[in-house]
Amino acid sequence: KRVVLAYSGGLDTSIILKWLAETYGAEVVTFTADLGQGEELEPARAKAEMLGIKPAHIFIEDLREEFVRDFVFPMFRANAQYEGLYLLGTSIARPLIAKRLVEIARQVGADAIAHGSTGKGNDQVRFELSAYALEPDIKIIAPWREWDFASRTALIEYAEKHQIPVPKDKRGEAPFSTDANLLHTSSEGKVLEDPAEETPGYVYSRTIDPESAPDKATVIEIGFEKGDPVSINGEAMSPATLLAALNAYGRDNGIGRLDLVENRFVGMKSRGMYETPGGAILLVAHRAIESITLDRGAAHLKDELMPKYAELIYNGFWFAPERELLQGLIDKSQDLVTGRVRLKLYKGGAYVVGRDSPHSLYDQDLVTFEEGAVAYDHNDASGFIKLNALRLRTLAKRKKREAKG
Ligand code: ARG
Ligand code: SIN
Repeated sequence: KRVVLAYSGGLDTSIILKWLAETYGAEVVTFTADLGQGEELEPARAKAEMLGIKPAHIFIEDLREEFVRDFVFPMFRANAQYEGLYLLGTSIARPLIAKRLVEIARQVGADAIAHGSTGKGNDQVRFELSAYALEPDIKIIAPWREWDFASRTALIEYAEKHQIPVPKDKRGEAPFSTDANLLHTSSEGKVLEDPAEETPGYVYSRTIDPESAPDKATVIEIGFEKGDPVSINGEAMSPATLLAALNAYGRDNGIGRLDLVENRFVGMKSRGMYETPGGAILLVAHRAIESITLDRGAAHLKDELMPKYAELIYNGFWFAPERELLQGLIDKSQDLVTGRVRLKLYKGGAYVVGRDSPHSLYDQDLVTFEEGAVAYDHNDASGFIKLNALRLRTLAKRKKREAKG
């Protein structure tokens, strides 16, 4: 029996590795992805080898470009925000990891995959819905839902018994739980669990405090093609390179911090702190380029659909037909979303200061307060308002009548 494990190289997934071998008698294959979490991957290889995994069964892959090109950018075409604020940094990474787990399982002839998410969260749902959508008969092992370690101490004892190195700072509980990739870092739990208490400064890892950001604004220009960012200050960049560059601008200006209480799919509220420096800039810029290139009808329709689309991604339905249908509509809307946006980055904010496009619908001649276009006759507005007012006047008359009567 073979099982492909999503392996970070950390303590918890190392314990899972041993536990799978012991409990299921399984031959474990490890998969470690570079999604831009900013950690070296070679130590994960060394650790897997040390724990007895055959070199041919250690898969380590750089998925940064695929992650940004095929997951992050398509999502940003929709301006997706869950519950109005969350840029879905963890949610969007799970389908890609699940997809590679399933593909590797096929390649090595494994019939099961395993992940290290707990039974309380969203991530288990995302991994598993994605995997089932791609491979209907895949077996999924979620050790956190099965094993009976009663405490952190029991877990540590198990690790020591199996020669799994336990870093000193991992002996007690970690102060909070994190997940990181090129789009964001999330922090939850422990010191963050009381939503009335402010997040301590040491929790932040990829943005400086806006209060200590430079007193002078940084101006950047982002170029877009068909809804996707393709350049910064005129320099063309690959998707992952571009997002990394935006992250650096965001970091230096304290942009993209979010303290949020959200509704998990499984039903509980949870408090998280997110840092999405590049994503926060990208959202503002993308909305600005859409503002001149999208027709009102198209723009408002995609805005109405956005919460639904965001919820699908949050809940783990990336590979579901309704997400794909919405994606088709969103992608079609982006055909002429091409142009440039100039922004000022300043103390935690990204502010649009200019935008232009070869496909702009903005008509200065039409909108001007000065003597303008012949296509617009002020007098036409009288009838337009009168007819739109007809219902409102009828209602007002009734109200008046019935108030008297
Ligand atoms: N609450 C966020 C989400 O559901 C972040 C989850 C973080 N996951 C983690 N394994 N630390 O998308
Ligand atoms: C977990 O429970 O593994 C992390 C939190 C989440 O998935 O929402």
